[in-house]
Amino acid sequence: MSATHVPAGTEAYEPVFVGRTLEELQKILTRYPTKQAALLPALWLVQRERGWISDRNMAEVGEVLSLTPAYVKGVVTFYTMYHQHPVGRHFVQVCTTSPCNLCGAEDVVRAFLQTTGAGEAGATSPDGNWTVIEVECLGACGFATPVLVDEDFIESLTPEKVPEIVRKYR
Ligand code: FES
Repeated sequence: MSATHVPAGTEAYEPVFVGRTLEELQKILTRYPTKQAALLPALWLVQRERGWISDRNMAEVGEVLSLTPAYVKGVVTFYTMYHQHPVGRHFVQVCTTSPCNLCGAEDVVRAFLQTTGAGEAGATSPDGNWTVIEVECLGACGFATPVLVDEDFIESLTPEKVPEIVRKYR
């Protein structure tokens, strides 16, 4: 019997919501009034399992929560915390909105890009460890420059402090 030919782009999809992850989703659903209200935690589960959220993952989330893929994509693209492509092991978000920019946020971004080797915003360092992006206001305008490293919030960061931060997460 010959091997099955799979046209490009139609490779078998491995669902995220099976086994333990499906059980977790079912538990989450009991805490929300509607399936739609559980969209954000459902997306977190996908990102935890796959590292990022592909269009096919969004379609699966839509299927399990009875939402259209377009609605799910609208939410994923609204929040910078959801990754739409593979990212490094550590994800750095630097606020570069005007108040932080005036206080030197661009220099903090440059320091991260150089120290991590990521090179440019949105790219991942060759060792696969770091992705650095610029984001809008993180809600800590009085503590420029605020940065999120993974889920850790760090305030009043200066370029001089960046190498120490990067060392800590290596
Ligand atoms: S402008 Fe940077 S935290 Fe608000």
